[in-house]
Amino acid sequence: MIALGEWMELLACPACGGALQAVEEGLGCAPCGRRYPLSDGLVACLPPAELRRFDELAQGYREARLRDGWQPMTAEEAWALPEGRPAGYPALYWEVRRQSCRALWRALAQRAALVGACVADLGAGTGWLSHRLSQLGGRVVAVESSRDQDFGLGAAARHYLPRAAFLPVLGDLERPPLAEGRFDLIVYNASLHYAGDLEATLRRGAAALKAGGWLVVMDTPIAREPLPGTGRGDRHLGRRELAAALAGAGLRASWLRVTRGPRWWLRQAKVLIKGSEPFSFPLVVAERDGSR
Ligand SMILES: C[S@@+](CC[C@H](N)C(=O)[O-])C[C@H]1O[C@@H](n2cnc3c(N)ncnc32)[C@H](O)[C@@H]1O
Repeated sequence: MIALGEWMELLACPACGGALQAVEEGLGCAPCGRRYPLSDGLVACLPPAELRRFDELAQGYREARLRDGWQPMTAEEAWALPEGRPAGYPALYWEVRRQSCRALWRALAQRAALVGACVADLGAGTGWLSHRLSQLGGRVVAVESSRDQDFGLGAAARHYLPRAAFLPVLGDLERPPLAEGRFDLIVYNASLHYAGDLEATLRRGAAALKAGGWLVVMDTPIAREPLPGTGRGDRHLGRRELAAALAGAGLRASWLRVTRGPRWWLRQAKVLIKGSEPFSFPLVVAERDGSR
């Protein structure tokens, strides 16, 4: 059972923004009276209808991953991420994730240490980055809409939580259940391209930042223009589209190029030969614009 007390100051009702408190069945919002019961032992900040909708999406995501050959990870594989090469994944997949993660570590090294910093990992999947950020001393809330046992927060609970210390929360990255002005770092790791309303999503993320806090977008595919994705709610964001949404959300962004290896450039060459639209995974680090 998760000790919720120390986390409550970081959470807020996704519907009204009010303070949440631990109640017998899970969490309750004092101002609006909504109740958020635990779900499969996980803190769930989603109304029941949303939970059902996300369960359907998670089922589709699971089936597609299994069709692609991705296999549920062992605890050892999960603990090693982003290092290693878990069974069933294409060679390039974790290579790219590793490069992006190292670029994030380099960017974060320019700031104060993560020890004690409040961090939110939005669209956290299995929670591998939450785990790494908490190892560096962050107080990490992992928000994810899927409770899947292998590809969602169920895996976080199974693999990491017996020994690691972050808070997994079932929630919507578009309306994250985060208290305003509390976070030093908010990361959308391979997840922002699932947001329907980009600017509103970023505005809500930005509202949870402390002054001087960072909002990071990583491993989201960025193309010259917006492009359709896999048909499971994701897409490729357009560069100007994302730049405009960040600015509209009151964020000042730096776009950092991530160094990729030969395997990536071979892939890019094949994309160009096929006449497809290339995309990249830059690291975008944004701060709240103090003038707004
Ligand atoms: C490509 S995966 C990335 C997962 C993880 N961040 C990682 O890097 O491995 C995208 C994740 O976003 C989650 N997701 C999609 N839409 C979401 C939403 N509206 N709210 C929360 N999570 C969402 C999916 O369930 C999935 O786990």
